Amino acid sequence: MVTILDFGSQYTQLIARRVRALGVLAELRPYTTPLNALTTASAIIFSGGPDSVYEKKAPMVDKKIFDSGIPILGICYGMQLMAHALGGKVEQGGKREYGPATLTITNHHDLFHGIKKTTLVWMSHGDLVTKLPKGFLHLAHTDNSPDAAIAHPKKKLYAVQFHPEVEHTEKGMAILHNFLFRIAGCTKDWNISNVIEEKVHAIRDAVGGAQVISAVSGGVDSTVTTALVARAIGKQLTAIFVDHGLLRKNEPAEVERILHHLDCRIKIVKAEKQFLHALRGITFGETKRKIIGREFIRVFDDTVQHLKPKPQFLAQGTIHSDVVESAGNGKTTRIIKSHHNVGGLPKGIRWQLIEPLRDLFKDEVRELGEVLGLPKQLVWRQPFPGPGLAIRIAGEVTQEKLTILKNADAIVQEEVRKMKWEYEFYHYFAQLLSQKTVGVTGDERNYAYPIVIRIVTSSDIMTADWARVPHDFLAKLSWHITNEVTGVVRVLYDITSKPPGTVEWE
Ligand code: XMP
Repeated sequence: MVTILDFGSQYTQLIARRVRALGVLAELRPYTTPLNALTTASAIIFSGGPDSVYEKKAPMVDKKIFDSGIPILGICYGMQLMAHALGGKVEQGGKREYGPATLTITNHHDLFHGIKKTTLVWMSHGDLVTKLPKGFLHLAHTDNSPDAAIAHPKKKLYAVQFHPEVEHTEKGMAILHNFLFRIAGCTKDWNISNVIEEKVHAIRDAVGGAQVISAVSGGVDSTVTTALVARAIGKQLTAIFVDHGLLRKNEPAEVERILHHLDCRIKIVKAEKQFLHALRGITFGETKRKIIGREFIRVFDDTVQHLKPKPQFLAQGTIHSDVVESAGNGKTTRIIKSHHNVGGLPKGIRWQLIEPLRDLFKDEVRELGEVLGLPKQLVWRQPFPGPGLAIRIAGEVTQEKLTILKNADAIVQEEVRKMKWEYEFYHYFAQLLSQKTVGVTGDERNYAYPIVIRIVTSSDIMTADWARVPHDFLAKLSWHITNEVTGVVRVLYDITSKPPGTVEWE
């Protein structure tokens, strides 16, 4: 296991992905993780970060780590931190270096083994190391960074000013490969198929002969979790699907079909009426969210009450990025989302948790879903908010509005699929507004709803941009929706990025 200490770089998750792609399990930890929790790591990587090491309160590690014998690779801020902590000097550079740079390698012994003398690397820094700590060697330079890579080979301490994890660094994977296998002696034993075997054993060990429940929402994480737990202890598992009526058109049937293929007990609870009743008269998005959460727990609890034998475990689809985002990196300045499924169960809950996806990233969860035999269109599909279509209907949620939105949204899904764009966009959906507008249908004046199309591109949804789809495509969507969906007379396209907008309207 390689431990990556997070100093707040936007690329930290990418480092873990790259290490795993090389066949070594990697975990992310905040930089405040104490030394005694790191001693089992076979190597440590310090990520980059936005701070300056010479400033007061700059993130630091326990300096004893450098004498622990564990191989360490410092990247960007991680390099500056290593140099600063060990007696070198870090200063503000003459100019900020951002973008591609040519690295000239002068020492090919281990980190740069097999790499040509010059190679393109990706830089993103203002500070640089101006004096090496005692015992460190110069390995490479760029025009702006006289020491762009340094090492203390005896102590297995290595550091690079550039980012080997980003794809613009031509030989980034080769450099990481050299660090992991030539320097740290890691073994290549991580791939998604043996992850399944490992997890199946771990689930069996944890659960023994007890009963397990799992709540399936139709989303990727909960479905993959359920499929995995079913593979491990299917006869002891009950998968519960609460159909709140707020999923997209045809989705409940698809979820049910998948569940019927799993080797476990299934409980499908049709609760659309109950949810619509609870949402009656509610117009504010946050209140809708709370009500849906509350009703969900009610229905789920009620269903579990009637199960025999009683369950002792609840399987949850928490994934690694949920855990990392909730823990943060130890800094108070960073915006940290609090994920509802990380230890966020209501008080008084009486089940133990099993979270078999806790150490996996989203695309690994998707890969695992495919290996488990789940349909590709399910495991790779766009994320969908827990409160479902309720937050895509402005104002009160009614049966009439739900039907209109489901039909309009199904057309957006269909047209995007026809263009084979479903993996191009992070989100593509329809939103229903509450203010009716005038239109003409046949010779009749028609007073009906406007639909907004929202299509966004994004890498992590913290920021997003509206997709520049061709006008002809928008024309087709507009024509298709106004012709086929009764109750819609107008179609709008949302050209707001995030920020200042958000993806969802509520
Ligand atoms: P915003 O609207 O904040 O959305 O830009 C960012 C991402 O979060 C999803 N989203 C939610 N997901 N429960 C969820 O499970 C919610 O209440 C919720 N609100 C927004 C949204 O679909 C997008 O992917």
